[in-house]
Amino acid sequence: MKLIGTGSALPRKVVTNDDLSRFLDTSDDWIYPRTGIKTRHIISDERLEDLAAEAVRKALENAGVSPGDIDLLICSNVVNEYLTPGLGCIISAATGITCPSMDINCACPGFIYAMDIAENYFLAGRVRNVLIVCAEEPTRMASWEDRSTCVLFGDGAGAAVFTRGDNYKGTILRAQPDPSKIWQYRPLGATPFDTRVVSGVPLQMHGREVFRFAVTAAVQDINAMLQRNGMGMEDVDYFMIHQANLRIVEGIRERINAPAYKFPSNIRDHGNSSSASCPILLDECNRAGLFKSGDRLMFSAFGAGLQSAVALLEW
Ligand code: UT7
Repeated sequence: MKLIGTGSALPRKVVTNDDLSRFLDTSDDWIYPRTGIKTRHIISDERLEDLAAEAVRKALENAGVSPGDIDLLICSNVVNEYLTPGLGCIISAATGITCPSMDINCACPGFIYAMDIAENYFLAGRVRNVLIVCAEEPTRMASWEDRSTCVLFGDGAGAAVFTRGDNYKGTILRAQPDPSKIWQYRPLGATPFDTRVVSGVPLQMHGREVFRFAVTAAVQDINAMLQRNGMGMEDVDYFMIHQANLRIVEGIRERINAPAYKFPSNIRDHGNSSSASCPILLDECNRAGLFKSGDRLMFSAFGAGLQSAVALLEW
């Protein structure tokens, strides 16, 4: 398959570290050096599906295709207002897309998981164009009294359109199943047959262990992808790393010994927007004219599960 268009949309409200320190025992002096985050966009008066629809419209326009040209929509999302239908259906209705859609919940690596699914539909000859949209509002998952998690996140949506071609060079997905490191419960009521009531628990995260997992998994994934393609580090033009924490990105960069200019980053202004982070970064780089034809982009993402993924794409 081949990437032909990107789009993204962010909430209007921008929240600084100083804004957070007005109601939380935190500071810019703690947050910025540990995470690289200065500000994040947070949903206030928008709805996630509207941001997602905006990202989709921009991606379709950028790709030069219309809603009727899309044969499959894959939506990556962890939390939104609807339990059913899937967020992909809501986005379809808002944008005039009528093809089947499916939602996946693969947390932060969701964009790469979605690309893997899309590629298999192309390989099976079942589609001409696929739309991927990643829409996330992790700021509604964390407790706003838990300073160790809520300061990390920002909301947003990113989308990408793929058509037939051979610019996508494949994916490696990996899992080290351990739900205890990042998890959240939704509330569930009792039934006449099961009297257990599940109380909601906001997002819980073992930050240091997740940090270690992220760096180790990404380095292994990147090396595995290079080896599979007979490539060296110098053959990759840009590493598009999930924007979870600038120190994680730096840790990966140092271990693979690659120069800083190959690591585009927007975490300073966006925080961690889960699976939306990679396609938002991709769209911002695309619109800034960063990539030239033939550039090789390596995507790497990691998160809850614990799961990680890497993908190679030629511009
Ligand atoms: O997509 C994957 C999602 N997850 C991640 O990317 C998270 C990966 N982990 C991290 O980024 C880092 O572990 C954090 C940024 C979350 C935390 O950094 P850390 O250096 O691992 O700090 P820590 O959790 O060990 O906490 C150190 C101290 C503690 O105080 P004491 O016990 O030493 O007195 C915390 O209570 O920092 C305190 N602390 C804060 N202080 C001010 C924790 N959060 C804050 C805060 N402001 N926001």
